[in-house]
Amino acid sequence: MASLRLTINGRTQVVQAGPDTPLLWVLRDRLRLTGTKFGCGVGVCGACTVLQDGKPVRSCQVTAAAAQGKAIVTVEGLASEHAHLQQAWLEEDVAQCGYCQPAMLITAAGLLREHPAPTDQEIDKAFEGVICRCGTYGRIRKAVHRAAKGGK
Ligand code: FES
Ligand code: FES
Repeated sequence: MASLRLTINGRTQVVQAGPDTPLLWVLRDRLRLTGTKFGCGVGVCGACTVLQDGKPVRSCQVTAAAAQGKAIVTVEGLASEHAHLQQAWLEEDVAQCGYCQPAMLITAAGLLREHPAPTDQEIDKAFEGVICRCGTYGRIRKAVHRAAKGGK
């Protein structure tokens, strides 16, 4: 066990964890930020996506130790800065079962940061590594465009 200093959703806190513990498990089990989901555990489904210094990363593939000194944002931390994104998701009625949607919202936040007015191709590329079993990609695309246009 080590004392790890992590900045999650703008708040720096110290957690006790083995340095090799994946960030995903520190978020879910230690900090109870259960919006970040476990899917495959091997970096292929995208369910565990969080922002690290503004870029989407798979939290099952990042150790908690490596996340120190980085700004980590989970879906719980999106509300203040990205309320328009969540509103667009509601307007387009995106979610079906909802399991993948925290990762989708995080991915959208990362995409809009890099491309404030993304093309369909840029949207498709950003989301290709995040699996939605319910097939909501068409509605995600519409919601991203709506959010990019300020909710219209
Ligand atoms: S749980 Fe991390 S990519 Fe699937
Ligand atoms: S909404 Fe069900 S997995 Fe995406």
